[in-house]
Amino acid sequence: MKYSRIGGTGSYLPEKVLLNSDLEKIVDTTDQWIRERTGIAQRHIAAEGETTADLAEAAARNALEAANLQANDVDLIIVATTTPDCVFPSVACLLQQRLGVTNSSPAFDVQAVCAGFAYALGIADNFVRAGTARCALVIGAETFSRILNWEDRNTCVLFGDGAGAVVITASDSPGIHSTHLHADGRYEELLHVPEGVSRGYDAVRQQQAFVQMKGSEVFRMAVSKLREVVDETLAANDLDKSELDWLVPHQANIRIIKATARKLDMSMDKVVLTVQDHGNTSAASIPLALDTAVRDGRIKRGDKLLLEGFGGGFTWGSALITY
Ligand code: UT7
Repeated sequence: MKYSRIGGTGSYLPEKVLLNSDLEKIVDTTDQWIRERTGIAQRHIAAEGETTADLAEAAARNALEAANLQANDVDLIIVATTTPDCVFPSVACLLQQRLGVTNSSPAFDVQAVCAGFAYALGIADNFVRAGTARCALVIGAETFSRILNWEDRNTCVLFGDGAGAVVITASDSPGIHSTHLHADGRYEELLHVPEGVSRGYDAVRQQQAFVQMKGSEVFRMAVSKLREVVDETLAANDLDKSELDWLVPHQANIRIIKATARKLDMSMDKVVLTVQDHGNTSAASIPLALDTAVRDGRIKRGDKLLLEGFGGGFTWGSALITY
């Protein structure tokens, strides 16, 4: 079996919902501004003590159930996250322990911020194609609310918490046709959390341990790089844009998503849109959108999907998939 395919999908959103009208009481913003500039109506926020591993576990269990597989069938776990529970062990190892996977198979985290799920999927696909894994759990999970400055209206209205998961299994036919991963490290200043373990978190500098973003510059780069990666993906598969059934994009901003849809000549009813319900959940947003459209019956077996995402680093990536 020289390909990988999606065996099942799952997702999880924390119970607590924060509406735009709630944010009006915290920062100088309006429901109208947030909806018009981003498409977001609400986001979910992890409860006190609820961690990324908790969200990842719930999504992973959903995906395993959908794939009709048991935990010990899994021989690779990759978690895409920028907001892990602790410095180590990885969220993937925490998850392996919780799910009761005892077959000593590899488990690790990938940090590529909002492109993290595309990266994790690409890595898992390569493991399966190489014959070193037959059943991979690939998860995007984030508690971004923990790295937001709740006094900064430029960022705190945009993000939310959540997790999405897919089970990837070995297959005779694709499945995942190709993945395309990119990074350009020159743009650190436009989108970053400039503090961390090795730089230290002293009392003064801790003020900066939050997402900082130059929104309009990031917006322009996102639109341009996503256009490029969409072209690259179609060309690599000798596919015409009219042959795509669904665009499953990273859910950062409805205006970025519309720009990519326009580039593909896709009407918005062929685009899976969940940004209104959970905002930007970073690495979780693509699998959250995918699971939503699989479970509500829009995405069917045999459909051709284009997944894409762009985020801090900068990092960006895509995948062409027959579901
Ligand atoms: O997923 C990772 C990648 N991230 C992204 O893809 C995000 C990319 N960027 C964006 O989505 C958009 O740039 C934003 C939604 C962040 C901002 O939208 P924009 O249309 O680019 O607005 P802007 O940054 O140019 O700001 C326009 C105005 C400014 O006021 P002035 O200077 O024109 O008076 C901002 O201060 O909107 C103001 N503003 C707000 N007003 C009300 C910024 N945030 C808010 C807010 N409520 N929350």
